[in-house]
Amino acid sequence: MTTLEAGRIVGAGLDRVDAPLKVTGAAQYPNDFTLPGMTHAALVGSTIAAGRITGIDASEALAAPGVLTVITHLTAPRLEPGPMTLLGGSPPTPLRDDRILHYGQHIAIVVAESAEQARHAARLIHIRYEATEALLDVDDPRAEIVVNPWGMDTERGDVGAGFAQADVVVEGTYTTPDNTNNPLGLMTTVASWHGDSLTVHDSTQWPHNVRTTLAAVFGIPESGVRVLAPFVGGGFGAGLRVWSHVILAVLAARELKRPVKLVLSRPEMFTSVGHRPNSVQQIKIGATRDGDLVAIEHHGISSVAMEDDDYEPVSAGSAVAYACPNVLTRDRQARLNIPCPGSMRAPAEGQGNFALESAIDDVAHAIGMDPLEFRLRNFADEHPLRGLPWSSNALRACYLEGAERFGWSRRGREPGSMREGNLLVGYGLAGVSYPFYQVPCQARVSVRHDGSAYARSAATDIGTGTYTVMTQLTAELLGLDVDRVRFDLGDSDMPYAPQAGGSGLTGALANAVHAACRRLTREFLDIVRDDTRSPLQGATAEDVAVSDGRIHLIEDSAQGESYVGILARHGLEELSADGRSTPPRAEDLGMAPAGAFGAKFVEVRIDPALGLLRVARVVSAIDGGRILNEKTATSQIIGGTVGGISQALFEETATDAVTGRIANATFGDYLMPVNADVPYIDVLFVGGPDRATRTGTKGIGEVGLVGLAAAIGNAVFHATGRRIRSLPITIDQLM
Ligand code: MOS
Repeated sequence: MTTLEAGRIVGAGLDRVDAPLKVTGAAQYPNDFTLPGMTHAALVGSTIAAGRITGIDASEALAAPGVLTVITHLTAPRLEPGPMTLLGGSPPTPLRDDRILHYGQHIAIVVAESAEQARHAARLIHIRYEATEALLDVDDPRAEIVVNPWGMDTERGDVGAGFAQADVVVEGTYTTPDNTNNPLGLMTTVASWHGDSLTVHDSTQWPHNVRTTLAAVFGIPESGVRVLAPFVGGGFGAGLRVWSHVILAVLAARELKRPVKLVLSRPEMFTSVGHRPNSVQQIKIGATRDGDLVAIEHHGISSVAMEDDDYEPVSAGSAVAYACPNVLTRDRQARLNIPCPGSMRAPAEGQGNFALESAIDDVAHAIGMDPLEFRLRNFADEHPLRGLPWSSNALRACYLEGAERFGWSRRGREPGSMREGNLLVGYGLAGVSYPFYQVPCQARVSVRHDGSAYARSAATDIGTGTYTVMTQLTAELLGLDVDRVRFDLGDSDMPYAPQAGGSGLTGALANAVHAACRRLTREFLDIVRDDTRSPLQGATAEDVAVSDGRIHLIEDSAQGESYVGILARHGLEELSADGRSTPPRAEDLGMAPAGAFGAKFVEVRIDPALGLLRVARVVSAIDGGRILNEKTATSQIIGGTVGGISQALFEETATDAVTGRIANATFGDYLMPVNADVPYIDVLFVGGPDRATRTGTKGIGEVGLVGLAAAIGNAVFHATGRRIRSLPITIDQLM
C-alpha cells in the first residue's frame, strides 16, 4: 500500500526543511523566548565537593538592585522526587537539606529583574561550609561499589575453559576520562505559571519526560504542564534527564508568580547537565593460532554520583560484538562526590569499544593475522546472546566495502613499516555493533481540504534532522510532494514521543508515522466505502496505493480519487489519524532486533620527534538500515566522527583531586577539535532496510562516534608499535 519500496522521496538527500528558519535566525531556541513580566535567575553552586552548609547570609544579595528573591534549602518547600524513566531514576531534587554531595551543586537560586542583576547578586550570597574529605577517584578503595544495578552483566560458556584452549591471550587495562556534553546552546529554562498550570520552554531532548517529572515534583496533574522545545541547540545527551536547574526555575516562577528565565553559564554546564563518567576497564581476550576467538573477559568500573543511579555498563557491548563461545562481562560503579553523570554521545559503548577493539587488534597482531581478516573471521552470524538471526546485519559489508574505499590492502604488515618523509604512517580499523534504544512512540497525521498535510509528535530535533526526515516520510507515505507537508514537534501536548537519544527516536517515530499514514488511508477508504460516486468504493487498504495527492487502485492507477475530492464531496475540513509504534520483540519476530553496525578506517600521520599526531583520513562504513535522507544521515555520521576524534585525542574534563573543582570548565580550556584537526571524512552506507519494522530504519545517532578511539589507537600502534590504553591520546604518550 505504501510507496516506501519505490522510495521516491525517502532516501533523497533533501535540504533541511528548517534550514531557512535557522539561517535567518527565525528559529526560536529556548533562550530566545521572552515573556511579558519575565524575570531572570542565576544559580549559586557549591564551592566544596563534600560536607555541609553551616550558614547562608543572603542579606546583601537581597538588598542588591533588582533582586526579587533568593531561595535556598532554608526557604525552599519540600519537593517530591522525580519519577523513574526508561533511563533510570531522576537526578536528586535540589535544595533538600544542608548536605553537599558535589562541587557545583545548586545551593541557591537568585531571581532579579535582569540577568546581570541576578548574576551579580548571586556573588553576594555568603555561604559557610563544613567540608569533609571528598571521594573523587574511581579507584578510591573507600568508595561504595554499586554492583550490576540493572542486571546487565552477562556470562556465556566458561571463560576459564576458553582461556585454557587459547594459543594467545592478551590483557590490558584501559582508562577513559570524564568528558562533558557541551551542546553549543546553553541549556535554558523559561517557566511560567498560570494559576495551577505551568508552561516551560526547555532545552530538552524529551519534552514528555520534563512534563512527567515536573508534574511529579510539584504535585500537579500532567495535563496542567506543557513543555515546549521546537528547537534545541544541541543535546549530546545533556537534555535526556530533568536536571536541578529546570526544577529551580519552575520553583522560582511559582513563588514569584512571574515568568522566570534561567540560562546556564558554560562553567555551570560542566556540573549541572551530566557528563560521560570516567572508566577503568580490564580486558582479556584469548584466541587460537588459526584466528578463532575462544574467550573474552571484560570488567569495567565507572564513576557515579552520590544518590543517583545513572548507569553505563561499559563492558556490555563486548557480549554481542563477536561470535565467541565464552564471554564474561562485568560492570561496577564507584560512588563519588562528583556531579551526576548522564548519557553522553554513545554512552558506555563509546568507552567500552575503545578497550574491546584495541584488544582485538592486539590479538590479531599477536597471531600475525591482518586485523580485518581477524574481525571477518569472528563475525557474529547470529545474535551471540539470543542465538537468533539478526533482523539485519551488514557489518561484514561494512568491513569489506569500507576496506575497499579506504585502500586497506595497501597497509604494510608490520608496525612502523609505512612512512612518508619523516612521518610515520599508520592504518587502523575498528568494528562497531551499536544496540539502540527501541521504544514506543506515537504520531498524528492530518490531511486538509486543500490537499496539504501536517503531522506531529512530541519529539525533538536536536540538530539531527528529525523535522526533515519525518516530513519526507510523511510525504512519501501519503503520496504528496514535500512542500505540501509540514511536520511539527517539540510540544508535550502532541502525541507521545520518546527521547531524542539512544539512537532510538528516528526508528520509533518513523514507525509511528508509518502507522498513522496507513490508518489515515483507511479512514479515507472508510468514507467512500458506500459512496457510489467514488472509484474507490469498496476498496480495501490492500487494494490501493497513494501518489500525486490521490488514492488509487494498485491494479489500475486511473481508478482513484484525490484527497481534496473525497473531503469536498463529504463536507470535511480535514481527516486525521493516530499511529503508534511499539518496539519489535525478538519473541514475535524469531529474530534479534538489530541496531546499527559500522566499520571505521583511519589513517594517522605521526611526527615521532615531536609526538605530533594528525588524523589524515577516515572512512566510515555504516549499516543504519533504511536511510531516510542521505544528506542528513551523512551529516550525522560526520558529526559523530568528529566527536570520536574529539574523544580519542582531545576531550578530558579535569577535576581537581582535592577540591573536586572542574579545572577546565570553559570552551577555552576544554579541548575539542577545530577544522585543522578534522580531515576529509568519507561516509558510506551499506546494507538495506531492517526486517524488524515497517520502515526498516535503524538509529544512526551514535554509531558515528563509536570506534574512532580504537581505530585511531590501532593506527597509532600500526605507525609506532606503541599501544596507547589511555584516552585522550596525547603528545606525551607518543614521545
Ligand atoms: Mo544521546 S547520549 O542518547 O543523546
